[in-house]
Amino acid sequence: MKKTIRLVALAATALLGAATLTGCGDDNDNGGGDAGGGFPADALIGVSLPQQTSENWVLAERLFENGLRDAGFSYVVQFANDGVTEQQNQIDAMIERGARVFAIGAIDGAQLGPQLERAHSEGILIIAYDRNLTATTNVDLYVAFDNFQVGVYQGTALLQGLEELKGSAPWNIELIAGSADDANALPFFNGAMSVLQPAIDAGDLVVVSGQTEFGQVSTDGWLAANAQNRMDTIIAGFYDDGTPLDGILSPNDTLGRAALTAAASAGLPNPVVTGQDAEVESVRLVFEGVQFQTIYKDTRALVTETIRQINLAQGGNAFATNDVVPNGEIDVPTFFLPPISVTQTNACAAFEGDPILEGVWSDFC
Ligand code: BGC
Repeated sequence: MKKTIRLVALAATALLGAATLTGCGDDNDNGGGDAGGGFPADALIGVSLPQQTSENWVLAERLFENGLRDAGFSYVVQFANDGVTEQQNQIDAMIERGARVFAIGAIDGAQLGPQLERAHSEGILIIAYDRNLTATTNVDLYVAFDNFQVGVYQGTALLQGLEELKGSAPWNIELIAGSADDANALPFFNGAMSVLQPAIDAGDLVVVSGQTEFGQVSTDGWLAANAQNRMDTIIAGFYDDGTPLDGILSPNDTLGRAALTAAASAGLPNPVVTGQDAEVESVRLVFEGVQFQTIYKDTRALVTETIRQINLAQGGNAFATNDVVPNGEIDVPTFFLPPISVTQTNACAAFEGDPILEGVWSDFC
């Protein structure tokens, strides 16, 4: 009940802000997916990105700058490489500068509450970009690739790779998850475990270290060094007696390469390793058959979709949605794009025409 009242109040405040700007109102009061009453075509759009923990974020910066400029908006696009406090300060400054829409890729989606509340009270529309904003009612739209599906693909690929490359079950595996403060890390892990847990229960997969809980396998800051240290320790503790390490679930390419490095430096045969992001170095490894799989989430598509949504809002239209994702406070209206699972088999077809991957693509296709 309390939540409902707050929601309506916030929606009303957001609408008031938008109406003040444009001189016209909007009768949409659903408090979510609400794009307000439109705003000037050259309005300031604030894009707040996290640390550069993977190539997708680096690409997003340039794509947002070019896309927003081409769409006629003013823009500010910033990384928060120094952490949560810097991201909070940057968002505060964007409010001061009069932004009309935020696209936020949060370092920690639960740590921006006061900034988001203030932004909403000023009528700023808030889009969670790639990572959801959690523990807040102040988010209007979430635009991302389907994170749970990413995990399902990773779990499926791990099993497929084990079947193709590591003889018959049972297989020994280890698990790596992303950074616990990133709202994406748990859905990635849960998606993968929805596939792997039944095989663990059936005895086809054995997590030799016994580390199967998200809290045990997550990787602070998505940092390769943290994942590699953990794998080094596990390998030294559980696999130095010749126990085969057949596969490693990795939530992204950066950590996947760290896992491969840990295995190689311990002199182990190449395990089946999953990934995500289709980073240049990992795409090469997939073509070479070293990394078994990656997930292609074309950053161009995600940025283009986000700007399409901003354009809808600019014209006073509601955001387009095809899903909802609960964030602990509300069901966030969501637009999901489909991720693509890529192994050596479909890599040529999947990556054809991507300018970032053209160099490596042309070496193999
Ligand atoms: C993104 C992934 C990325 C990870 C680390 C996640 O939120 O969805 O694509 O690999 O952050 O940067």
